[in-house]
Amino acid sequence: MTERQGHVQGLSEHELSEIRMLIEERTGICFDESRERFFSTRVLEHLRTKEMERGTDLLRAIRKSNVEYEALLERLLTQETSFFRYPGVYEAFEKRVLPELHVKKFWKNPRTLRIWSAGCSTGEEPYSVAITIADSLSFAESWNVEILATDVGRHALKHAERGIYTGRSIASVNEKQLANHFTPSGRGFQVKPRLRKMVSFAQMNLASAVYVGRMDMIFCMNVLIYFSEERRRALVQRFYDTLEPGGYLFLGHSESISKMPVKFQAIVLNDCILYRKPTAEELQKPELVTEGRA
Ligand SMILES: C[S@@+](CC[C@H](N)C(=O)[O-])C[C@H]1O[C@@H](n2cnc3c(N)ncnc32)[C@H](O)[C@@H]1O
Repeated sequence: MTERQGHVQGLSEHELSEIRMLIEERTGICFDESRERFFSTRVLEHLRTKEMERGTDLLRAIRKSNVEYEALLERLLTQETSFFRYPGVYEAFEKRVLPELHVKKFWKNPRTLRIWSAGCSTGEEPYSVAITIADSLSFAESWNVEILATDVGRHALKHAERGIYTGRSIASVNEKQLANHFTPSGRGFQVKPRLRKMVSFAQMNLASAVYVGRMDMIFCMNVLIYFSEERRRALVQRFYDTLEPGGYLFLGHSESISKMPVKFQAIVLNDCILYRKPTAEELQKPELVTEGRA
């Protein structure tokens, strides 16, 4: 019997659907048919952990208590990540974006770079951004670099704040980066204070419009894929409004905004697409710029 056909041991189709709708309404995360089994298995696991017998008990609990709601949400989040997850993105960031922003902002006072890692999971993404900046931005020490890293998952953020990584998560960090930016800690490696200070972590739900100030770059990789088309559009528009003219949006490899009505320039570099917010003068020119290699 499939989940859609009726009961999943203690959970009726109706209860599952109510839970699914509540999660989607509050977070934007959509559990469509392809993620149906994942969803019902995780909800059932949660029901058992909580020693509840019926789905109605769980529904009542998550409606009444934010703590109960967040406990279930934590179980439903997909938080897979790693350092330098897409090497092509970091190469484009280092070779194309940072030099361009350096020219644009070096003589500004204060000399600030503001970056948002939206959906940062356990922190590998914002720390990879910090490492790239520390290693390749000219006169990196003279810049005021602020990386805001946000996620809806509190457990992931706690991990990120500790900054200790092992195994596969850190496999793409090279020897030099490991020596420069980490100290051995137990069986893993902890980010050094200099890197840690570049990043501020905060719990934030992307389904609620929270003002974060103007950003030069936004990394929102592998988050939009979990949202409905409508939420995706709204969020991409919000990212556009948040970016400085000339600022960049980085999305995951399978995330495209080609059908959305925002006026980003799509720049193709190696195996990735960067989205650049045009300046006022550039908006007079053709919208879509497709370029060659980095
Ligand atoms: C697959 S991870 C991506 C991590 C990282 N950006 C990367 O590409 O490696 C997706 C992250 O998005 C977060 N997320 C999902 N829905 C969210 C929401 N409504 N608000 C904030 N974060 C959300 C999840 O908690 C998870 O950590």
